Parts: sequence; C-alpha cells; structure tokens
Amino acid sequence: MNDDIVLSVEHLMMQFGGIKALSDVNLQVRRNQIFALIGPNGAGKTTVFNCLTGFYKASGGRIELNVRGAPTNVIQLLGERFEPTDFVSPARFANRLYYKMFGGTHLVNRAGLARTFQNIRLFREMSVVENLLVAQHMWVNRNLLAGVLNTPGYRKAESDALDHAFYWLEVVDLVDCANRLAGELSYGQQRRLEIARAMCTRPKIICLDEPAAGLNPQETEALSRMIRVLRDQHDLTVVLIEHDMGMVMSISDHIVVLDHGNVIAQGTPQEIRNNPTVIAAYLGADEEEIV
Ligand SMILES: Nc1ncnc2c1ncn2[C@@H]1O[C@H](COP(=O)(O)OP(=O)(O)O)[C@@H](O)[C@H]1O
Ligand SMILES: [Mg+2]
Repeated sequence: MNDDIVLSVEHLMMQFGGIKALSDVNLQVRRNQIFALIGPNGAGKTTVFNCLTGFYKASGGRIELNVRGAPTNVIQLLGERFEPTDFVSPARFANRLYYKMFGGTHLVNRAGLARTFQNIRLFREMSVVENLLVAQHMWVNRNLLAGVLNTPGYRKAESDALDHAFYWLEVVDLVDCANRLAGELSYGQQRRLEIARAMCTRPKIICLDEPAAGLNPQETEALSRMIRVLRDQHDLTVVLIEHDMGMVMSISDHIVVLDHGNVIAQGTPQEIRNNPTVIAAYLGADEEEIV
C-alpha cells in the first residue's frame, strides 16, 4: 500500500437485516488531508464512520488503517477478538461486555483512529476534565495493582494524563470550564469537548461526525480554524462528515459524495460543486442541507 494512504476502504458493505445501508463503498484518505464525506440525509455517512471506527463490524469489504508503521485490518481486529466461543474465560467475558456497550471503538482507537459522535456522547454527570481523564484511562490500560500501591510510575502516568487533558482544554478553549459538569456546557462547548476527548487518545486520524451541527456562524468559523490547526500543528488527518457546505467547500482537500450507500462522486471542492450528479442527488433534499 502507498505509504501516503492512511486509510483505505474497499468494497465496504453494511447490511441491517434486509436493508443494505452501504453497498460498495471505496475510498482512500491521504495523510494530513482534510477529507470530507457528504451526501443527503440517510446516504450512509454515519454508517461508514461506524464501520471505520469499530462501532459496528462491517458485513463485508476491507478497511485498512496505516498509521502506526504496520497496516491494521480493522474488520479482522474486531472479528478476532469477539468471535463467540463455547468456553468463555472471565477476561473474554469482560471484553464481550465492553464490546456490547461501546462496540469495538476502543480497539480501533488504540490503532490510531478516534471519533466524535453526531449525537454528542459525553459523561454528562462528570466534570469536563474527568471526561478527558476517563478517555485516557480507557486507552492507557491501567495496572490496578500499581494504582493500589500508588507507585511512582502510576503517579507519573496520572500527572501526565492531567497535563495532557489541560493541554487539549487549552487548544479547544475550555480551560475555564475544567471543573464544570459536561452536561452543563453549551452545545458548542460540548462539541469542542468531544474533540478534546478524541485528541486525548493520541490519534493519527480523527473522524468528526457533523461537528458544525447546531453551531452559529462564528462558532463554525472557529471550528474550521481549529480543524486546520489539528492538521497543520498536530500531524493529524481529518475525516469530516458535514452538512454545512460553506465549511466543507472552504476547508476540504478532497470530497467523497455518498448517496443511497454508494459513492456517486469524488474530487476537489471545485469539481464537486460543479458535478451534475451531485447536484441531482441533492435536489429534493431539505433546503437547509444545501445552503
Ligand atoms: N443500526 C441501524 N439499524 C438499522 N438501520 C440503520 C442503522 N443505522 C443506520 N441505518 C440505516 O442506514 C441508512 C443510512 O443511515 P446513516 O448512515 O445514519 O445516514 P447519514 O449519516 O448519511 O444520514 C439509513 O437508511 C438508516 O436508517
Ligand atoms: Mg449521520
């Protein structure tokens, strides 16, 4: 695989009962790209994210991540660990419970890919900073005994996690809210906290599902700037689902258009803007989707 390609999706298929949400999705994301996935409501965009991030296991096709030196086969990563077995060991049982709650998201996260959700998923009853610590603990795999004994190594890991949390709070401009409950934040602040949480897991690729939804024009502008900072200063690749076409057209390097579970077009913003197939797909869509 070309080293420049950090995420490659081939013949991705996702079926829910009799419904084929994705038929044959092919796409390639290059390193440090801002890559946008667009399309009318119900096109299958979130389903693509759910498959990429291990929230669902795809019904078919291939997803290859290439960010940590060696390629990771995402579907295999999920499949190997969660095949049902006759004998269920306690460790395996715990893994399966976890899988039931979060899908395989944490496994793919460890392989270098993080996400935010279209419907914000924060621990609302925890403080802002606690949300960021929990995210790192899921990633770091704490050693319980070291915690009980409060070893120097453990204390160092704790203080590193706190430093890291505050670093990202600074970037997303939420330091002043560190001790407030996540559920009390405004919508725009919660969206930024989700981005900070994803970044706390030290990803190489971040998938943002409609990050501008519900934001006002100033907040959307600030979000665009932040996405560029992530790409330019943190060596990140950004995969973006977004309905705000002004934002998509201004920040994306490459756009893929989905409709009814298929890729119908791809190219630069300029190419997509003038593509008759894309325009036709959006006709009859809600007015707000095309503004
Ligand atoms: N968990 C699910 N079970 C059944 N159908 C689903 C599920 N998730 C998505 N779908 C269906 O897949 C299609 C694509 O949905 P989605 O990926 O959410 O679209 P988009 O994000 O582009 O608006 C829709 O028809 C939706 O109803
Ligand atoms: Mg969606």
